[in-house]
Amino acid sequence: MTRAVLALRAPSANRVYTAAAGPLVLAEARWVLGAHLGPGVVVRERTVGGMHALEVRARAEQTVDEDRLDTLLGLLSTTYGLFEIAGEGLLRPLEASSPLRHPEDLETILKYPGKTNEQFTALLVNLAASLSTRRSGLFDGTLSLLDPMCGRGTTLNRALRLGLSPIGADIDRKDVEAYRTFLTTWLRTHRYKHQISSTSLTVRGEQLGTRTLAELAPDKAAQRAGLAQQVTVLGCDTARLGEVLAARSVDAIVADLPYGVQHGAHGGGGVQRSPLEVLRRAAGTWRSLLRDGGGIALAVNRHTLDHDAAREALAAAGLTVLTRDGAFRHRVDQSIDRDVLLAVPSNHPRLEQLAALDALQEETPT
Ligand SMILES: C[S@@+](CC[C@H](N)C(=O)[O-])C[C@H]1O[C@@H](n2cnc3c(N)ncnc32)[C@H](O)[C@@H]1O
Repeated sequence: MTRAVLALRAPSANRVYTAAAGPLVLAEARWVLGAHLGPGVVVRERTVGGMHALEVRARAEQTVDEDRLDTLLGLLSTTYGLFEIAGEGLLRPLEASSPLRHPEDLETILKYPGKTNEQFTALLVNLAASLSTRRSGLFDGTLSLLDPMCGRGTTLNRALRLGLSPIGADIDRKDVEAYRTFLTTWLRTHRYKHQISSTSLTVRGEQLGTRTLAELAPDKAAQRAGLAQQVTVLGCDTARLGEVLAARSVDAIVADLPYGVQHGAHGGGGVQRSPLEVLRRAAGTWRSLLRDGGGIALAVNRHTLDHDAAREALAAAGLTVLTRDGAFRHRVDQSIDRDVLLAVPSNHPRLEQLAALDALQEETPT
């Protein structure tokens, strides 16, 4: 019999869009497992004792790296617990190794209007990382991750918990300052060894904004063991990042694009700026920063950014969108009908294998 694993879904998963939580994590699992392990695993939804779960089996005749599979399942955005199906009606708890570090409140404690939900952020990070040819860097801290529109740092905090040293950028100085204040307080409260500095970001005599750099480790022993991490936050226009960061230096880009609606104003706010305009201005820069084998996960609002227009803007920058319209569609509120676009450089070495994963999404396992 082939080994089968159940990943239970947290009961609190995506309270906001409950009905979509199942299809979302199913799509996440199929993309992430397919991209990391190849098409050798079959994933389906099922309920066990009234609890929602994903069941994952290796296809007949396929060998799968079981440790890596378990670790990836443990990292899925809504996983609550893992069990091996040990026989008819028998579940054996699985203790998967996990790269996650630091207390969970690093991701959850900060609340503000416009924050990208933490579980959804974890999904975006998992997806973008899986597309990279350097995806194993997710497990040893070497994957380089950029959120070029990082707001108050939800992606950065997820990346820190994964042991990475991420870079973020945001044009809104209030957001950058709020992230610095939050991180400083969090590091002090948790008695971490840390240093935070901010300087002006100047390129060829022009001041583009600010650069904040934090170095952190839980304690001296972790510092000595080489477990110190860095997080860099650039307070500048995302379209100027090519002047600040090294070309072809990033493995994974994760961004929750501006939705083109006012946050915090219930009852629907006015349009602030066009997300398509932002994408057209920034996509070329993002491509230039990404390694050829890198990947991008973009969260978009379908009400204000048309899939085909986004696909064209990305194609013009040398990026191929892998996902169909609505692949990760879910309704957040009246004004946000959210989806995720996955894209890679058009010369990505694994373009064909990754593009084939879109078709797997339709699969109904027998
Ligand atoms: C949906 S929010 C991201 C929220 C973020 N993930 C978080 O959880 O805090 C989009 C962000 O894009 C930023 N933004 C808009 N235009 C930008 C630009 N040209 N350059 C950099 N950031 C920009 C906004 O300031 C906003 O913080």
